[in-house]
Amino acid sequence: MPAPRPKARVIVTRKLPDQIEARLGELFDVELNPEDKPFTREQLHAAVQRAEVLAPTLGDPIDGALLASAGPQMRMIANFGAGVDHIDVKSAVGRGITVSNTPGVLTDDTADLAMALILAAPRRLAEGVKLLQEGRWTGWTPTFLMGRQLKGKKLGILGMGRIGQALAHRARAFGLEIHYHNRKPLPAAQAEELGATHWPSLDQMLARVDILSVNCPYTPATYHLLSSRSLKLMKPEAYIVNTARGEIIDENALIRMLEAGELAGAALDVFEDEPYINPRLRALPNVFLLPHMGSATLESRVAMGEKMILNIHTFLSGHTPPDKVLLAAL
Ligand code: DGY
Repeated sequence: MPAPRPKARVIVTRKLPDQIEARLGELFDVELNPEDKPFTREQLHAAVQRAEVLAPTLGDPIDGALLASAGPQMRMIANFGAGVDHIDVKSAVGRGITVSNTPGVLTDDTADLAMALILAAPRRLAEGVKLLQEGRWTGWTPTFLMGRQLKGKKLGILGMGRIGQALAHRARAFGLEIHYHNRKPLPAAQAEELGATHWPSLDQMLARVDILSVNCPYTPATYHLLSSRSLKLMKPEAYIVNTARGEIIDENALIRMLEAGELAGAALDVFEDEPYINPRLRALPNVFLLPHMGSATLESRVAMGEKMILNIHTFLSGHTPPDKVLLAAL
């Protein structure tokens, strides 16, 4: 009888929910990161030289140079997260390394947070909280902290994938009119259900919307898609919400416009150089900022971990993982 195959070595770069770590321990020869400190470049190099499966997450730069130093045992990158912008997928695939991610299970929570930001910016929640925290509230007045009403306003969704669609459903319930820009228009029945207008031209949509929500993936094609030029097309009374990736917006251009009153406000969960936050952004009264919390619920993070485990297990059993990242889809 052949000896059973030794358990595969899986190296996980960040602390994961307890039950996910326990399950990983049952199935694989796993190395965890209980201290939850981001891996240094040296630790990442050491990991790709020893792991059969690397389980990274956003913030771990899995670039071509790192992959060039991977040992021959390295067969899979099982990302904990939907976005794979931190992974050079082309170079991984070129080296015969399979890449998987965890889409779908974080859709509702991320759409909820996008909706929370859509409420936060025009209703000036950040200013209200700050005022109370600083003990500056002197009582209700008829003209105090007046924001803008959501009902009847035009919401532009940039990227009508799973999260964009889930957001559109929520936004409809708040009386927002749905507009979107996407490579592919929605099937007619879905567009009708959402009352959604497709804009093949992003520029044309930007000039018309009252609130813009960024929900597309970050790829080379979407880097600074919201450039200084395109941001200037927006109405000065419009708001911007981003729960996708900071790099999609030219953050310096956005800050300049917010400072100059050329946009009414912004609510951001992601930043161009996170976790660094530009102090000029923090100093603005009309911005609401969160530390990349879109999928931060116990339910989503456990489901993401389960998906990651299923991908690894399926792959190690000789099959295609259900969430294999396809180069053509990027
Ligand atoms: C992802 O999955 O890419 C998210 O940004 C994490 O919340």
